[in-house]
Amino acid sequence: MYFEQIATGGCQSYIVACEATRKAAIIDPEQKQIDRYLGVLAREGLHLQVLIDTHTHADHFSASREMSERLGVPVAMHRFSPSAHATIRLDDGDMVCVGDLRLQALHTPGHTRDSLCLVLEDRVFTGDTLLIGGTGRSDLPSGDPDQLYDSLFNRLLRLDPALLVYPGHDYKGRSHSTLADEIAANPRLQKTDRSAFVEMMNQLNLAAPTHLTEALRTNMNGGKTIHRLLEDAAAKVPFVSMTELKRRVQANQSDLIILDVREKDDWGTGRVPGARCIPRGQLELRVNAELPDPTAQIVTCCEFGRISTLAAATLKELGYPRVAALDGGMKAWREAGFPLEAG
Ligand SMILES: [Fe+2]
Repeated sequence: MYFEQIATGGCQSYIVACEATRKAAIIDPEQKQIDRYLGVLAREGLHLQVLIDTHTHADHFSASREMSERLGVPVAMHRFSPSAHATIRLDDGDMVCVGDLRLQALHTPGHTRDSLCLVLEDRVFTGDTLLIGGTGRSDLPSGDPDQLYDSLFNRLLRLDPALLVYPGHDYKGRSHSTLADEIAANPRLQKTDRSAFVEMMNQLNLAAPTHLTEALRTNMNGGKTIHRLLEDAAAKVPFVSMTELKRRVQANQSDLIILDVREKDDWGTGRVPGARCIPRGQLELRVNAELPDPTAQIVTCCEFGRISTLAAATLKELGYPRVAALDGGMKAWREAGFPLEAG
C-alpha cells in the first residue's frame, strides 16, 4: 500500500493507494494542499479514484468539491452528509474499493451526525471521532455526546486493539497511535460510564471554531471561502504598487482614473489626489454614467486593498480592459505618508 500523511496546521489528510493498480484515494483533503496532492499523485504515478470526507468539517475547508470538479473524481461521504457534491453515499459497513484496497466505513456519529471511521488493513482513519489523547467535540451542529459514547465504546474501541489510529486532527505533531494506546491512556476514554462521559463532553465549554460559518458554507454547500473569492479576483487583474501610483499622480497623468471604492464616510478621511469615489456597492449602477470611456486607464483603491481587487475584477468583467488594483490600501497609503487630498 502507498501511504502518505499530509498535515495542514493540525488538520490531517491522507493519500492511500493500491501498489498494483496505482489507484488512489484521498481522505479529508484540505483546500490549501490541492497543488501538493496533485504533485504527489503525479510524482508517484497514481490515478485518483475517489475523495473521502470523514464528516462535514466545521473548522477547515475541504478540497473535495473543487478537486472533484477539476478531476472528475467522485466524493464519498456518509449518507447523512448534507453536501450535494458527495455522490457516493456510504452506509454503515459499506466498502470503498480502490484497486485492491478495501476501505470499510463505520458510521460513528457523535462529533457530527455524518461521521465515519474508515478501516483499511492494519489501520483505522478515525476522523474526529477519536483523536490522539482526545476525541472530537460534540457541541457543534449535529453533534451528540450520547452518540459519541456509543460510537467509541460500542463500536470503534471494540475493533482489534492493534489497529493504528490515524486521526483527523493532531496539533502536537504526532502522526498516529494505536487503539490499545488510546484505550490505556486517552483521558477522555477513561470515563467509561455513559453518563460520566456525556457530562464531561457537555462541560468542555470550548470556543466556537474560528471559521465555523465559512467552513459550513464551503463544505456543506460548495460555496467559496473569502480567501478563494479574493484569489480568483486577484488572478484576473494586474496590480499597481503604491509607489507607482504616487509617481503617476505626481506626473499629473491626465488620462488616469483613480477610483476609490470606499463608502462616503471613509472617503472623507482623505483620498489619493484626484481620486473619484464610486462605492463598491454602487459600482454596477453608476458605471455607465461615470466611466463612459471603456478604454480608460483605471486604478481602483479601498481601505485595505481587498474590496478594490473585487471592484477591479468586476470592472474587467464589465469591459474595462485597462483596469488595475492598488497593491495596498488607503490605510497603508496614509501610513507611508504619501500625498493625501482632503475628503
Ligand atoms: Fe471535525
